[in-house]
Amino acid sequence: MANELQLLKLCKGTFGQFRSFHASAAVLSKASETRNKTFAIYRWDPEKPNEKPYVKDYTVDLNACGPMVLDALIKIKNEMDPTLTFRRSCREGICGSCAMNIGGTNTLACISKIDTSNLSKPVKIYPLPHMYVVKDLVPDMNHFYMQYKSIQPWLQRKDAKPVGDAQYLQSTKDRDKLDGLYECILCACCSTSCPSYWWNGSKYLGPAVLMQAYRWIIDSRDDATEARLERMKDSYSAYRCHTIMNCTKTCPKGLNPGLAIAEIKKLLCGIAKKEAPGLDTTALHTAGAAKC
Ligand code: SF4
Ligand code: SF4
Ligand code: FES
Repeated sequence: MANELQLLKLCKGTFGQFRSFHASAAVLSKASETRNKTFAIYRWDPEKPNEKPYVKDYTVDLNACGPMVLDALIKIKNEMDPTLTFRRSCREGICGSCAMNIGGTNTLACISKIDTSNLSKPVKIYPLPHMYVVKDLVPDMNHFYMQYKSIQPWLQRKDAKPVGDAQYLQSTKDRDKLDGLYECILCACCSTSCPSYWWNGSKYLGPAVLMQAYRWIIDSRDDATEARLERMKDSYSAYRCHTIMNCTKTCPKGLNPGLAIAEIKKLLCGIAKKEAPGLDTTALHTAGAAKC
């Protein structure tokens, strides 16, 4: 009855009049039905070294929860178990911090809808695979970030200008080459789904880092192409990719790291060359200076 009254209140229009509303008893009872879903979550606490990792079940009423897996995790942490540990920040697929393995797929919890097609099937949640675990769903990203640092992910120019002095210009066509690369949020879903990275992660850079390496190699404004490629000329850094394509299949941003690696291999073995820049930004700077 309380639900029905609340529903009638909701139907009261902005200007005070009741709108006609045909709510059958079936609709009302369906709205008040609980929709319980179990979340089976990997747990491990470094402060309890004698306790092995285990999976803990939590039951969430989906009527009182947002639609995404991250909503359920936040609800569990806020209302049931404050010890549950996971990373999240933006909750809109931009920061990459909520990457985890959900139902067997590496993805972002904040943009993964809770599967409501079968309420009796639990949602299984694990940390990203083949990573050291800091606690519960939090993987240790240090090695991944060290590898990212090793590719020197910043613009390098022979004629570097002091910051704020000049823009490094780029033609529209050259700028287009960065599409599908710059959108990477470094969530590591791809690298941690790559069998080659699982077995050779200490020396193989993995798809996420290689795609960022390619992003800088192909940038028309960057002058360090040769040095960037030279650093990858060994049998591990790039060549451990065997084109299995798990990386591309799993990327929650719809990017194609497998293709970027194939392009790097073409540059490494000399069957492709980086095109000359469409705009000579050094010449433009000189012309600009001459005018002044
Ligand atoms: S390529 Fe995709 S899966 Fe890999 S780190 Fe970037 S956004 Fe994540
Ligand atoms: S294509 Fe290369 S990087 Fe991607 S999953 Fe396969 S081996 Fe790993
Ligand atoms: S919380 Fe930022 S990507 Fe999910």
